[in-house]
Amino acid sequence: MTLSELTEAPTAASIFTEAHTAYMFTPELVADADLARIYELAKFTPTALNSQPLRITFVRTEASKARLLPLLAETNRAKSASAPVVAILAADTDFHEHLPVVSPQMEGARERFAKNADGRVKMAMNNAWLQAGGFILAVRAAGFDAGPMGGINAAGIDEEFFAGTPLRTFMVVNIGHVSEDGAFPRNPRLGFDQAVTLA
Ligand SMILES: Cc1cc2nc3c(=O)[nH]c(=O)nc-3n(C[C@H](O)[C@H](O)[C@H](O)COP(=O)(O)O)c2cc1C
Repeated sequence: MTLSELTEAPTAASIFTEAHTAYMFTPELVADADLARIYELAKFTPTALNSQPLRITFVRTEASKARLLPLLAETNRAKSASAPVVAILAADTDFHEHLPVVSPQMEGARERFAKNADGRVKMAMNNAWLQAGGFILAVRAAGFDAGPMGGINAAGIDEEFFAGTPLRTFMVVNIGHVSEDGAFPRNPRLGFDQAVTLA
């Protein structure tokens, strides 16, 4: 996959101004190759120390979905049931093991984080959340609609999917093509004067 193949389609409109959070989806499948394309874009989201703590589990079989759906807020289950793919986003609190490769110039960083469990969890969560924003935009850039959802039993998902691992779930993202009436009208965004200070 070349970089131009990955980046030919998206525009600011398709990623920002015309893109909407999707709640219900058409049955059209998302190929595993498309999921790879989404990751190949999302991975470029910048993170502190290039730490990249986000781990993604693409749930796309009926058997895997049956394990996940009961662990979503009741109001969210029909939304994920309609999506061909649901991504579980989790933070790897042992991300520091990769630092010698992904941040080779930061000598001793892995050892410093190994001794600082609290700082490691904070770093993992902060940067995985940051990557989640990039992930949602990557889904759109790859030509799909995204429905991020925080209404989940995160501890339950960890137990069901990641027992015995350092992964901590924090969000799921429904992925597919939005159905007719599958998105709500846009709610107001804060204006420049409300959110921005020119100093
Ligand atoms: C972190 C996060 C958590 C969210 N949790 C839920 C959720 O649990 N259920 C739901 O229906 N929508 C959820 N949403 C969707 C938001 O309400 C929606 O993205 C926002 O209102 C913007 O809508 P728009 O893209 O149509 O403008 C969540 C979005 C984000 C980014």
